[in-house]
Amino acid sequence: MFETMTAAAADKIMALAGLYRDDPRAHKMDLGVGVYKDATGETVVMQAVREAEKRLYDSQTTKSYLGMGGDEGFNKAMLKLVFADSADPSRIFCGQAAGGTGALRILAELLSKARPGATVWLSDPTWPIHEPLIKLTQLKTAAYPYFDAATGKVKFDKMVRGLDAARPGDIVLLHGCCHNPTGADLTIDQWKRIADFVTEKDLFPLIDLAYQGFGNGLDADAAAVRLLAKRVPEMAVATSCSKNFSVYRDRVGAMMLLCKDAASTKIVGSQALMSTRLMYSMPPDHAAATIRIILEDEALAANWKNELEEMRLRILNLRNGMADALRRHSNSDRFDFVASHRGMFSRLGLTETQVERLRDEFGIYMVSDSRFNVAGLREDRLEELAKAVVCVL
Ligand code: LMR
Repeated sequence: MFETMTAAAADKIMALAGLYRDDPRAHKMDLGVGVYKDATGETVVMQAVREAEKRLYDSQTTKSYLGMGGDEGFNKAMLKLVFADSADPSRIFCGQAAGGTGALRILAELLSKARPGATVWLSDPTWPIHEPLIKLTQLKTAAYPYFDAATGKVKFDKMVRGLDAARPGDIVLLHGCCHNPTGADLTIDQWKRIADFVTEKDLFPLIDLAYQGFGNGLDADAAAVRLLAKRVPEMAVATSCSKNFSVYRDRVGAMMLLCKDAASTKIVGSQALMSTRLMYSMPPDHAAATIRIILEDEALAANWKNELEEMRLRILNLRNGMADALRRHSNSDRFDFVASHRGMFSRLGLTETQVERLRDEFGIYMVSDSRFNVAGLREDRLEELAKAVVCVL
């Protein structure tokens, strides 16, 4: 059966995690996979999650099947967290998914059913899984210019000019906040222009919202989605709870579809559920039930928001500290963008050889395109990192 098969190319993010694990050096530094670590370098279970899990343990009487859309209480609460009151709820379908990747996979399947042969436009660069995931369907992919490595900013005019080649019915995948891998986000004014642009050109926005709460705050990070929801007739959002609830391995996220009216929402929702059924029947329950308990309880939700805000502020602090240390050690402002970026990642603009040297000589692990996970940094090691970066330049 498998004689003709060759080994799959390594997943560059997950392979890096394996290399890090196997490195015996005590001073190694993991800035690869997007996982938040606290000041001691641990990825702890959030207090609110622990408390909700206890309540779930005490109250759950069955593990019988839920529906294909998962926990309806979770879906309702997630809709509120993301869309707030920006659109008529009868126009939005929400289904629980197996993480943000699961949500993207089902949405790709659904969009492929709706428009086989349409092109999904991806930012250059984007998360490495976007393209192969979409190519599993009958959708095509193309890239639009996004990140200007020289300035560390979004090259917005070029982005819009690039998207001009899209045809009506094409899909534009946008990072709702905390762009992965660059950390460079659109401003609200730019989002307004994108909303007008996609409406005029009849393009369908697909928003990847994997880091809500890690950029400028829970509401600010959903501002782009809410703005689009007020201006475009249809859109989709893939959210992840991996980072903002720190439930990575439990796999929970949601797919959301804003449709033209309540009748089409029912049709589209039924197709999304059928795609779920055919892909993995239904999503895993545990983390979704936990998050439902948090979001339905005012006090617990407030605790979770405080913990998340602490994480966000810590990342900002690390960004400032890192930019500062790099400025001092490099005697230049070339890395100042690290402070203005948002979310877990920034790209340092190093070559693959320089990234390899960081790993081999200093035990510092970052993705080969020099994306590093700011949330994996420790404050007491910023100097060491800045010195190493300058050393390999
Ligand atoms: C990342 O980009 O590091 C995270 O989204 C984890 C992953 O699944 O790649």
